[in-house]
Amino acid sequence: MWQTLPLFPQQASSVAAQVDQLYFFLVTVAAFFSTGIFLTIFYFAIRYRRSRHPQAHEVEGALPLELAWTLIPLGLTMVMFVWGASLFFAENQPPRDSLKVYVVGKQWMWKVEHMDGTREINELHVPVNRDIELITVSQDVIHSFFVPEFRIKQDVLPGRYRHFWFRPTRVGTYHLFCAEYCGTQHSHMTGQVVVMEPAAYEQWLGGGTGGSLSASGERLFQQLGCATCHKADASGRGPSLAGLFGQTVKMADGRALVVDENYLRTCITNPDATRVAGFPAIMPNFSTQVGEEGLLQLVEYIKSLKQQPGQPAAPAAGPKGQ
Ligand code: CUA
Repeated sequence: MWQTLPLFPQQASSVAAQVDQLYFFLVTVAAFFSTGIFLTIFYFAIRYRRSRHPQAHEVEGALPLELAWTLIPLGLTMVMFVWGASLFFAENQPPRDSLKVYVVGKQWMWKVEHMDGTREINELHVPVNRDIELITVSQDVIHSFFVPEFRIKQDVLPGRYRHFWFRPTRVGTYHLFCAEYCGTQHSHMTGQVVVMEPAAYEQWLGGGTGGSLSASGERLFQQLGCATCHKADASGRGPSLAGLFGQTVKMADGRALVVDENYLRTCITNPDATRVAGFPAIMPNFSTQVGEEGLLQLVEYIKSLKQQPGQPAAPAAGPKGQ
């Protein structure tokens, strides 16, 4: 649509056209009212100029007019709100079978980790026409993951995993920017997203070396001694982690939490916040011993642990216990 009028970046993702439609709506509304208001100002300035109307006189109000200028803008802004919010939610709720990729932002680079263990810096390779879910976290300050061609701009937060997704629709190479001022080198925090044909992507992916993320996580799990308390059966001092992901866990303070990536992350970096009911409060804090990359490896390892045959789904189970 815009090849001949290159005001906008290419539309290279499934949401790009929808974001543009909303944007055009906003621009049209703003342009319509700005034009109307300025034309009226000029018209009134001439029509009611002082030389012809030396005496001003009070106007006592006009109910229909006041209703109109209240209700019309209310309706328009509600349209903007509902439209914008639904698009925002759509971008933030990844479809179930999407391809997951971790992105860690740090001053001043993007570190990408694929599930098979392939790592990249300032580059993200993805297959075309596939839903890509990014699980993002920052190692330091707030960054923002911005790919104009995909119409995706999402904050990357320290200490918390955020999920959002896109579906690239064209093979090509696209700019990746950091869109949140994050320090002196912010403007250099750029990279590229390479969208490939599925076959080429599979070939590219073959280059992983150190094993999958969850395999690295397992090594770390052993190194840090997690396995001494978290045994596969219920015999450990901490809760068993098998089949834990997605379960609801009861906390010592009565809350019931669903085990997702953020829950696991909190258990490791701030265990006081997630003391699981029925376990002693002995889980140490690992926040200084594991970096963001180690954390996401551990999270992937725990996610990969399947329930032991013959064991109950461990309703009280929680990672790193209390
Ligand atoms: Cu990272 Cu700006």
